[in-house]
Amino acid sequence: MKVLVLGGDGYCGWPTSLHLSDAGHEVVIVDNCVRRQIDHELATQSLTPITDMKQRVKAWQEVSGQTIAVEFGDLLDWEFISDVVRRHQPDAIVHFAEQRAAPYSMIDRRHAVYTQHNNVVGNLNVLFAIQEFVPECHLVKLGTMGEYGQPNIDIEEGYIEIEHNGRKDVLPYPKQPGSWYHLSKVHDSHNIAFACRIWGMRATDLNQGVVYGTVTPQTERDPRLINRFDYEEVFGTVLNRFCIQAAIGHPLTVYGKGGQIRGFLDIRDTVRCIELAVENPAEFGEFRVFNQFTEEFSVNQLAEMVVEAAGKLGFEARIDNIPNPRVEKEEHYYNAKRTKLLDLGLQPHYLGDSLLDSLLNIALEYRDRIDPDVVMPSVDWREGRAKQRVHKAPAQPSASL
Ligand SMILES: NC(=O)c1ccc[n+]([C@@H]2O[C@H](COP(=O)([O-])OP(=O)(O)OC[C@H]3O[C@@H](n4cnc5c(N)ncnc54)[C@H](O)[C@@H]3O)[C@@H](O)[C@H]2O)c1
Repeated sequence: MKVLVLGGDGYCGWPTSLHLSDAGHEVVIVDNCVRRQIDHELATQSLTPITDMKQRVKAWQEVSGQTIAVEFGDLLDWEFISDVVRRHQPDAIVHFAEQRAAPYSMIDRRHAVYTQHNNVVGNLNVLFAIQEFVPECHLVKLGTMGEYGQPNIDIEEGYIEIEHNGRKDVLPYPKQPGSWYHLSKVHDSHNIAFACRIWGMRATDLNQGVVYGTVTPQTERDPRLINRFDYEEVFGTVLNRFCIQAAIGHPLTVYGKGGQIRGFLDIRDTVRCIELAVENPAEFGEFRVFNQFTEEFSVNQLAEMVVEAAGKLGFEARIDNIPNPRVEKEEHYYNAKRTKLLDLGLQPHYLGDSLLDSLLNIALEYRDRIDPDVVMPSVDWREGRAKQRVHKAPAQPSASL
């Protein structure tokens, strides 16, 4: 199949591009590399030394003999994205290309506006490009489990059967997102569902949990293929952050009581889930929703697992409960369904000892690149404006922000 990977230079997009290419698909990456600019804005960098986009695809060509084409450009630029879709005529579009950090969207008004503008308008352009140039193309869109929030009932995969005043219907599962970023994903989901309804488009919304890890069988094949590993407070996800904190002897920063439960998955499962969705497309007119995670953990459980794994590697890690910068439930019920990707053949990697050891080993290997100044949270959900080290303007300001 010919697959466009939008956001193919990012944390999930790069290993997915390699995985799909390795599986025999023709891959075209589309990216404006704004994530690399955001590193400059936040005065930080990936823990791992990532090479630039051109070197990455050159290295892949050398080790695999496969070519990945790259289109540099912005999804907000209709001329650009419509031209790319028209020229390549993809069978599937995998859409990762969004601003994906909740804390980034909570810095201040401009970062909130940037996030929703970038994500919602970019996604709308993709929908219109499909409708106009490749109406049979299957859209595989990355959503997030954070769209659902933490309701006091089981979370279903996208839809719930409701009985109300004696009548029944299957309706979209209620959404209670916890940041301006998560809200942008909810807006995207509604727009995609609407496009499926009115145009007969086919789409899969992958409500992904928190991804951890960095290595896949393809990224290991050459140092130039290494994936990014975000560890600072804005883009770093919780397990990656705990591992680098342990590696530099910083206490593991559990926000508040630490009873926050979320769904998690290994990056190797992310790439496989995308492959499964691409190779088993939704029906025309169908807005299909999969919950894409493999295990649930509370923040406390993760911290305790990292302490234990560090002990096995011969060093001590300790936990510090710090004031929670986010507005969220710190103790709650959580039980989310996740059967649809398993039914398609996903065989999960579980966060057993060896996985945690390998994560910690990466943190130890690149310990010298860790900047301790970007570890503690500086973005507060209650503030609504920038402070301290966070720069005042988003990486790609537009005149309207
Ligand atoms: N990383 C996670 O734990 C996680 C969890 C749930 C969902 N997701 C979703 O998966 C997707 C990918 O996440 P990630 O961690 O790889 O993020 P990332 O920031 O590493 O990658 C996103 C990529 O998209 C590009 N991009 C952003 N806006 C663009 C635009 N307007 N035009 C062209 N390119 C643009 C960026 O340059 C970057 O390379 C996101 O949609 C995110 O919401 C990620």
